[in-house]
Amino acid sequence: MNVRLFAPHLGDDELNEIKDSFKKSWVGLGEKVAIFERDFCEYLDCKSSIAVNSATAALHLSLSVFRFPRGKKVLVPDITFASTAFAPIYNGLEPVFVDVNRDDVSISVADLEKKWDKDCAAVLPVHYGGQPAHMDEITEFAKIKNLKVIEDCAHTIGAEYKGKKLGLWGDIGCFSFEEKKAMTTGDGGMICSDDASLISSLRSKRWLGIDRDTWKRMNHNTEDDSKHWYYDINDLGFKYNMNDLSASIGIVQLRKLDEMNRIRSGIISKYIDGMKLLNHIKPILPYEPFKYSYWLFGARCEKRDELIRFMKKNGIATGVHYVPLNIVNYFKQWYSKCETAEEIWKSFVTLPLHVQLTDDEISFVLEKLYEFERTHF
Ligand SMILES: Cc1ncc(COP(=O)(O)O)c(C=O)c1O
Repeated sequence: MNVRLFAPHLGDDELNEIKDSFKKSWVGLGEKVAIFERDFCEYLDCKSSIAVNSATAALHLSLSVFRFPRGKKVLVPDITFASTAFAPIYNGLEPVFVDVNRDDVSISVADLEKKWDKDCAAVLPVHYGGQPAHMDEITEFAKIKNLKVIEDCAHTIGAEYKGKKLGLWGDIGCFSFEEKKAMTTGDGGMICSDDASLISSLRSKRWLGIDRDTWKRMNHNTEDDSKHWYYDINDLGFKYNMNDLSASIGIVQLRKLDEMNRIRSGIISKYIDGMKLLNHIKPILPYEPFKYSYWLFGARCEKRDELIRFMKKNGIATGVHYVPLNIVNYFKQWYSKCETAEEIWKSFVTLPLHVQLTDDEISFVLEKLYEFERTHF
């Protein structure tokens, strides 16, 4: 058996929507992007959404809105993907690595308080694997210290935490539609906020700072307007826009998202039930699969590397999410001690989770976990 770690869930509906873009002969930044943004706003129940070509771009642009002076600091959790820490660096700011909680791997509020100093301007909590960061405590701390909050929602779309949608707790929420994520557009991202004026400048910034994109120029000019080609540039811009092909996929994926989240929750429940009698291999997170929307399922095991080799031999793909950033070569220059992160990641192993995972595959993974425990402990 060959069990995949992640897999996008795509079908004819996405293809038909793409075909529609082909027929219209418009595949760049256009109508589909606007429709996807509108639908995403409706789904999240927020005032404004701006579609970009990755969550990395979303995080970069979101931080730029505040125009923090160079050299200011941004607090980021130590266990996350590189993009979370690159966002401050792209903006001339310094990342400050904050430890994570031992149980839920989210940014530790206690360490946030310790690492904070008067140069800190923002905090970027991550909902690791879909497990919500403690947004109530984080936003309260941020308010006291006058920090802006950008939520990195790359691992979850659609869940609520304490009655409020994730992505809307902070000033801005950033989502990822990269191939492996909860829903995909191939690559893509979304910037969301309830404060539309805060992020309105990003609409042009994602397209080189040009104040009227080609779609708008096509559609808002009268016959006697000889200046249909005219635009101005008022800000430093980037080529970060989503295109209509990606948005075509996104429009359909968003309609399927709740169902895909429900299926992933069902799989996680089966894993958790199945793992109950294991003593040395435990779920990586305190999963509440029907309360939150998880994207990652993993386990903790002291003999992690041996387990990875054993699973590989049996055709089961695994991963490790993530090496703590403070010990990654490039980020070492911003090293600050994160004791828990530096310890717990060594036991992390990511296991297969995707919508198409079959019951047979789940049983096979569980069977191999039990076999490993029997033969290695
Ligand atoms: C926590 C986190 N933030 C940001 C990103 C960046 O997402 P994208 O690949 O859409 O740029 C990822 C991607 O894996 C991620 O895991």
